[in-house]
Amino acid sequence: MRPDAIDFRSDNSGCAAPELIEAINTANSGTALGYGGDALTLALQDRLAEVFETPLRVFPVPTGTAANAVALAASCTPFGAVYCSALAHINTSECNATSFFGGGTKLVAVDGPHGKVDAKALQDAILSAGVGQSHKNQPCAVNLVQATDMGAIYQTDELAAVSAVAHAHGLKVHMDGARFANALVALGCTPAQASWRAGVDLLSLGVTKNGGLLTDAIVVFAPDTAANIEFHLRRAGLVWSKMRFASAQIMAYVEDDLWLRLARQANSAAARISAQIDGLRGLRLVAPVQANELFVEMPESALAGLDKAGFLFHRRGPTVARFVCRWDTTKAECAALCAAIDRLLRDSPST
Ligand SMILES: Cc1ncc(COP(=O)(O)O)c(C=O)c1O
Repeated sequence: MRPDAIDFRSDNSGCAAPELIEAINTANSGTALGYGGDALTLALQDRLAEVFETPLRVFPVPTGTAANAVALAASCTPFGAVYCSALAHINTSECNATSFFGGGTKLVAVDGPHGKVDAKALQDAILSAGVGQSHKNQPCAVNLVQATDMGAIYQTDELAAVSAVAHAHGLKVHMDGARFANALVALGCTPAQASWRAGVDLLSLGVTKNGGLLTDAIVVFAPDTAANIEFHLRRAGLVWSKMRFASAQIMAYVEDDLWLRLARQANSAAARISAQIDGLRGLRLVAPVQANELFVEMPESALAGLDKAGFLFHRRGPTVARFVCRWDTTKAECAALCAAIDRLLRDSPST
């Protein structure tokens, strides 16, 4: 990698927030019971119950994939079906961990704009699933990614509409909240409004992408599901013995709204870029910029020019780039990207 490279590859590429490193340091004294029996992990249960304004169970886990797969495995039967967007991370990027941990659970793609699940499309899919027929996978859960894999945000009424359909047919509602804090900032609502009040039963709460290191969490609002989660986690080897260091991070993450401050920084960086590039000739935003990601269609020559100029980003097809802003993306990095895009589009033969 060039020393002057500017990185828009992922919110995984950034640093950990100093407050979370500090929290780990503070937790690093004395002894504590292992496997989540420590005082910090116990305190975390009450702290998140306060934050979400409802009784709940929190299970810190090492990765978002673990959170998604175990939350869904605990909500489903091995012959169950999980409905999700075709673009959902569980469907595209987790090597079918949902099926592995669920003992065979099937993923079923449902239409919706920009990585969302549409309530009517979900209803149609469930009605044609063959409920009760032993030839067919049986509907178990729906997975909603917030923010979506195209950086779009479900409004709370959209969440409520999908949840109402799911619950009417006995399905659990799972939210992949790898970017839940980014969504909260975008929605300007409370954690409760963005989750259980809108019908979410289980939440994969992202921490790592938004300044954490090595931890996310499963938050369970549906008490009947929680009983099995600890067994799924333990047999999968997903329970740290020194859990206190993960719990310390999550405590610090929600303290004084740190998670919202970090997410606001990332979202603002994306909004800044969007404001400068939207409308440039030869460029199209293929999804609304509502959180910290931009999906931008440009001529291949312009994308190649960005590569050459040392910008790091992933592609979603030959002419679509994904730029992700981190909590620690700087204004100078945003300005450099915008200036380069502007220059390359002017020079591009096809615009
Ligand atoms: C929407 C979404 N969900 C889940 C994950 C999984 O996280 P991890 O890579 O920690 O397993 C990611 C990671 O990129 C993601 O973007």
